[in-house]
Amino acid sequence: MSENQKKPLVPKNIEQLNRYIAGKTIAEVKEAYNPERISKLASNENRLGCSAKVEPAVLEAMSEIQDYPDPIARKLRKVIAQKNKVKESEVILASGSESLLSMLCRTFFLNKQNAITAEATFVGFFVQAGVRGVQLKRIPLTKDYKFDVKAIVNAIDDQTKMIYLANPNNPTGTYINKKEYEWLMEKVPKDVLVIADEAYYEFAEDVEDYPKALEYDHENVIVLRTFSKAYGLAGFRVGYGIASEEIINNLLKTKLTFEPTTLGQAAALAAYQDEDFLKRSIELVNKGKERLYKFLDEQNVEYKRSISNSVMMILSSEEEAIDFTQKMLEEGVILRRINAFGLPKCIRITIGTSEEMDHFEESFKKVIK
Ligand SMILES: Cc1ncc(COP(=O)(O)O)c(C=O)c1O
Repeated sequence: MSENQKKPLVPKNIEQLNRYIAGKTIAEVKEAYNPERISKLASNENRLGCSAKVEPAVLEAMSEIQDYPDPIARKLRKVIAQKNKVKESEVILASGSESLLSMLCRTFFLNKQNAITAEATFVGFFVQAGVRGVQLKRIPLTKDYKFDVKAIVNAIDDQTKMIYLANPNNPTGTYINKKEYEWLMEKVPKDVLVIADEAYYEFAEDVEDYPKALEYDHENVIVLRTFSKAYGLAGFRVGYGIASEEIINNLLKTKLTFEPTTLGQAAALAAYQDEDFLKRSIELVNKGKERLYKFLDEQNVEYKRSISNSVMMILSSEEEAIDFTQKMLEEGVILRRINAFGLPKCIRITIGTSEEMDHFEESFKKVIK
């Protein structure tokens, strides 16, 4: 075969895809700058760690590590079903909700179909839809940095298969309220699958006009939740989906058989039953947000009030955001610029412990000077 007859090794949709770039790790920052202390406020993890019940449960599960994991995570599935008042057959466990996004894209698209989401939302969905070669309609946020539900409805066409809503949204911390959600769901055709990604549900559930997608009887909705945020188990990679049996049964066909791992299942089961730890985690975040709002007000910095575990700061330019994030990094405070989410002058701050928030404030004052 001559040179120009060769078929490309990598398909175009993969070649054109941007990799998901995660926040910096503590080890990377230590190696690059060796600051006196490090506060990792970049990836919306739980800065309290995880429940003390997790370690003994994981150690016990080590005795089963030579065997393949339970492919449907029966024990974990049962407690999740009970707590959410759904059937066990309506629950699926996977290696993080990102894996569920991948599964959804693998399972539901036909050629030429499209998906709709916001311009600035969880990048993981852009990547998974891109891998599947799906046309993605990314609708700009409103002036208030919210999902624009009207524009989303206007973008629906005959080829629309999926709508991805992160509620609360990451990276903005804003949310689609009850009225907006109900209006949207009335307009969405029943053959369009709506992903209600509730990765930050535990921080949002007590907000009065936050719509809990499970409380509605919509057959075309899948709710995604995760153990990576409020439960502090990001390293274990466990997430779950709740939907109709029809959706779950078909996802089970494309799921990697043995996810999540045995240790992940044991860790999540222990964490899920420790309500006290969850409560403390939510309190820490709520207190930390109030403190951060007050501080940013004093510093005259614009931000968005949030119902998740992070707050988005809005600086005056991209250059300022780059410079600020870099200088904070050198002080040992790891923050997340959210240019990859389409918001180049914004920075996301995960709420940390009070010591970490002290570190943030002290470094902020130094850097801004
Ligand atoms: C909205 C949203 N969905 C999903 C995820 C992925 O979570 P998991 O760790 O369960 O894959 C994240 C993580 O940042 C997120 O912000």
